[in-house]
Amino acid sequence: MKNRKSIVILDFGGQYAHLIARRVRRLGVYSEIYEAETSAEDLKGAAGIILSGGPQSVYDTNSPKGDPKIFDLGIPVLGICYGLHWMTSVLGGKVKQGGVKEYGKARVSGVGGGASALFKECPEEFSVWMSHGDEAAELPEGFEQVATSDSCNNAAFADETRKFYAVQFHPEVTHTENGDTILKNFIGMTDADPWSVESYSENIKEEIKEQVGDKKVFMLVSGGVDSSVAFTLLDKVLGADRVQGLLVDTGLMRKNEVEDIQEAFKDLGLPNLRVEDASEEFFANLKDVYEPEEKRKIIGQTFLDVQKRVSEEMGLTVENGWMLGQGTIYPDTIETGGTKHADQIKTHHNRVEAVQKMIDQGLVIEPLKDLYKDEVRELGEELGLPHDLVWRHPFPGPGLGVRILCAGKEVPSAKCQVPNLELGTWNLELNCSVLPVKSVGVQGDGRTYRHAIAFFSDEPCVIDEELWKKATEIPNKDPEINRVLKCTSHSNPVEFVFTTGYITLERADLLRKADAIVTEEMHNAELYEKIWQFPVVLLPFGTVEGGQSIVLRPIESTDAMTANAVHLPENVLKKMTERIMSLDGIDLVFLDLTSKPPGTIEWE
Ligand code: XMP
Repeated sequence: MKNRKSIVILDFGGQYAHLIARRVRRLGVYSEIYEAETSAEDLKGAAGIILSGGPQSVYDTNSPKGDPKIFDLGIPVLGICYGLHWMTSVLGGKVKQGGVKEYGKARVSGVGGGASALFKECPEEFSVWMSHGDEAAELPEGFEQVATSDSCNNAAFADETRKFYAVQFHPEVTHTENGDTILKNFIGMTDADPWSVESYSENIKEEIKEQVGDKKVFMLVSGGVDSSVAFTLLDKVLGADRVQGLLVDTGLMRKNEVEDIQEAFKDLGLPNLRVEDASEEFFANLKDVYEPEEKRKIIGQTFLDVQKRVSEEMGLTVENGWMLGQGTIYPDTIETGGTKHADQIKTHHNRVEAVQKMIDQGLVIEPLKDLYKDEVRELGEELGLPHDLVWRHPFPGPGLGVRILCAGKEVPSAKCQVPNLELGTWNLELNCSVLPVKSVGVQGDGRTYRHAIAFFSDEPCVIDEELWKKATEIPNKDPEINRVLKCTSHSNPVEFVFTTGYITLERADLLRKADAIVTEEMHNAELYEKIWQFPVVLLPFGTVEGGQSIVLRPIESTDAMTANAVHLPENVLKKMTERIMSLDGIDLVFLDLTSKPPGTIEWE
């Protein structure tokens, strides 16, 4: 354990642990996530322990189990949902396997006159969010019922003497009323150290100095929020002469991105960022390349080549006393929960083998590794980085490279079942047409590479409920389709004219212009900071020879693992479409209505 008192969240799977950890931080004390199986010995220094929910039943053979000795540590414990079940079974109570799953809203009523310290200042009755099959049928010795609900007799119970609490509902979810009060009451029973971005930045300075010692730090700055904040922090703590940043301009960045970053660091008095314009090299390597995976590989390899060349040229090697800085944030580092007990495991690029080796040798410093994205943004503002840079949407490493679709000479063909359509023809009754390009999606656990279908109507910028429904139904039913679009520039299907092309400076410039229009209009409508990301994609076909199309893909998400398409107001959509249509070379504009899954956020 670190030498500070935290509320430890034991992660029993799903997304719950992160939600709890963030809530606890927002309530002003330190929180840390640990694997469910962590030994009591390793948790001795915790201020309090919260057992998270999880998707399994305690009766499943491989369901996660904690160390029962944590109940001997003399520390307050709060079990939530699965955490309640595990706690009940370990302490001698009985868990009943529920026949029906209870999802969604429920009402709980306090019993015992609301005397439990956990429910202090909560009303007698309130709404909560439940998601469970099992429930506690018999309470362990020493516990008393605190609340009931219609369908769950023991909705909350407590052993006030030992400060052990259990709730069947999820106090960390926004739909639960009084969730913060309940968590605050629990925190109040512990001696957890106060948390704030200011106190974090004070503490982290000492940790950085200690870890770096007399070495120097080399950092790749991408233009994104995390690496910019990490670079600024290291600079301020170690001094510009002991930190060197490298920004590789791939030619696939957003409009003014490189200039804005340079300007921001200059204004902060930080001269130690080298910008290497490698755009010609990138475009040369991408000539005649059409396949998405091949493009990704080439972009990644070119990036490594440039980085190696420049760092050797500048003598930034381990032998010369340099270590690597990374902008890794908390969700990236958790190999437990959210990933360990979840179905999908994703290796983050900051944790690839070569980097992991350097981490083991103490050659990597990651000053943001305890922070969530919103906290990184707060810290960035405190360090003096401009608001707009700090609030920028996440941008993929390969940049616009995964947003410029390429086409070889052969037009792909497909027969789609749902609208019974061949490519290029249209269904007059449904007013839709299948597009002659494929994009990447995700269904089940696997990657798909399929066509998009576009719908047309007399009011192009109005998306009715029927169409939102179709956006879910069609990819589920038709094995040829993974995305559903609405054409926002035309009322009726048009003949698509296909243009072969790979990634060029001209195409990147055209996409940059469309992307800048979208960013500007989202700011004008005060929507930019309300959504997670808004990829803008260039497609290689139009209505005339050489014409191209733009796809708008606004999405909301909390972690990019799943996402929903955003319902943009009609006037905003109309304005964006009009402005993009006025660009030379753009013939059509579409809005992507697909959630993830079945679509991915990016098109490639
Ligand atoms: P997908 O398209 O998989 O994207 O739904 C999920 C999130 O990851 C970003 N993304 C990347 N980020 N390197 C990155 O650093 C990549 O190769 C990459 N591909 C996708 C994407 O923008 C979204 O936020």
